[in-house]
Amino acid sequence: MATYLPVALAACSPQKTELPLTVSATDSEGYQSIGTLEQLTEKGKLLSKELAIGSVLVIQKPDNPQEVIAVNPSCPHAGCSVNWKADQNAFICPCHDSKFAADGQLLEGPAEEPLKRYEAKLEGKTILVKAG
Ligand code: FES
Repeated sequence: MATYLPVALAACSPQKTELPLTVSATDSEGYQSIGTLEQLTEKGKLLSKELAIGSVLVIQKPDNPQEVIAVNPSCPHAGCSVNWKADQNAFICPCHDSKFAADGQLLEGPAEEPLKRYEAKLEGKTILVKAG
C-alpha cells in the first residue's frame, strides 16, 4: 500500500501549465474577462468562443496598444472567420478576401457591411468584453 502513496500524491499535486483562456462570470455591467493584456501581447490576438454573445476576436489598437478592440470574427459576407493580419493592420477573410480595418470598418468587399464590434476595455491588465 505504501508504494502507491507517492503516485497518489503526485496525481493530486497542482501542475504548472500554460494559463488557459478562461472566461469569467459576467459582472454587473455585463462585462466578462477573456484574458490578460500579457496573453494578447504574446499572441497578437485573442479568440474566445465561450461568451454568451458568441465568438469574439480581440486585438490591441494598432495606434495605442493600451486599448483593445473586440469584433465578431464572422465575416458578414458568408460567415467565414476573419484573421487579424498585424502587418496589414486589417482583418482579412480567407474565403473571398474581404478586408476590414482594425475598428471593423469595411475596406474591401465582396462583404458589404463592417464587422460587428463589441465594447471592450482594460481593467488593470484584464481584458473585459461586454457580453450582455
Ligand atoms: Fe468573407 Fe466571403 S465570407 S468575403
